[in-house]
Amino acid sequence: MNFSSIIVAKETGYALIQLNRPDALNAINHKLMKELIEALEDLDDDGDVRCIILTGNEKAFAAGADVKEMAAAMTVEMMQRDEFARWNHIRRIKKPIIAAVDGFALGGGCELAMACDIIIASESAKFGQPEINLGVIPGAGGTQRLTRAIGKYKSMEMILTGAMITAKEAERRGLVVRVVPSADLLNEAKTLAALIASKPPLAVRLAKEAILKSFETTFEQGLEFERKNFYMLFASEDQKEGMKAFVEKRKPKWKGR
Ligand code: CAA
Repeated sequence: MNFSSIIVAKETGYALIQLNRPDALNAINHKLMKELIEALEDLDDDGDVRCIILTGNEKAFAAGADVKEMAAAMTVEMMQRDEFARWNHIRRIKKPIIAAVDGFALGGGCELAMACDIIIASESAKFGQPEINLGVIPGAGGTQRLTRAIGKYKSMEMILTGAMITAKEAERRGLVVRVVPSADLLNEAKTLAALIASKPPLAVRLAKEAILKSFETTFEQGLEFERKNFYMLFASEDQKEGMKAFVEKRKPKWKGR
């Protein structure tokens, strides 16, 4: 993999992707998103990788979609490019993605973090959807994902004013699962990734799938989907091993099948 806007590193059980446009506060341009999707899809196919961490740098996770790239565009061009539809590829990644956010996660940066499955943040992280200040609105899922994450009233306030919230407030509102000092952020993300990587991968995959389904179905359909995934796991060796190990009071050995 030969990338210039991201850096990809594999460790035991998980992989780390770092956004790498520091001079532009990791603003997300066409090239960065193309590389990111390619890397995520490659890692999703990689049997050695069971969890993916996405991070930026100390100053910015990402300060949004690249304003300079789209400033002069007209509607037809924006529709032809349909840049933000491509972000849907992230939704189809089967392995869990942890966003480790330091610094700014604004606009598309906040939307990118929210497209991940778990967000952890440093004490200096800031989240916001400031598109209103540019004469537009969030275009990569912000109105939908932020509202589902923190509710109507706070997302209205954030999206209509463009105001940022701190990591602590994001944690209080359920957007972020925990806040740690900046120096500990990556270690925290790695510990979490390693923990998830130690779990039976088929169950992890079907659990993620069922949780994401809850955003798209009625409650009844969601329960049915969950139940089917649950029953399906009884065809796996890992289910037999997991329950046998429990009964025999020993640690299970997962095979991923
Ligand atoms: N696009 C392009 N370039 C960006 C950028 C962005 N979103 N955010 C920052 N940059 C660039 C700046 O232009 C600057 O480049 P130059 O040195 O070449 O001028 C460099 O990154 C450093 O930025 P600042 O000098 O502005 O840094 P700062 O510390 O003074 O301010 C900031 C930091 C408050 C985050 C400020 O950069 C900022 O407001 N950025 C834009 C945030 C924003 O509006 N994001 C939403 C974009 S639209 C969107 O994302 C649509 C969508 O829904 C997908």
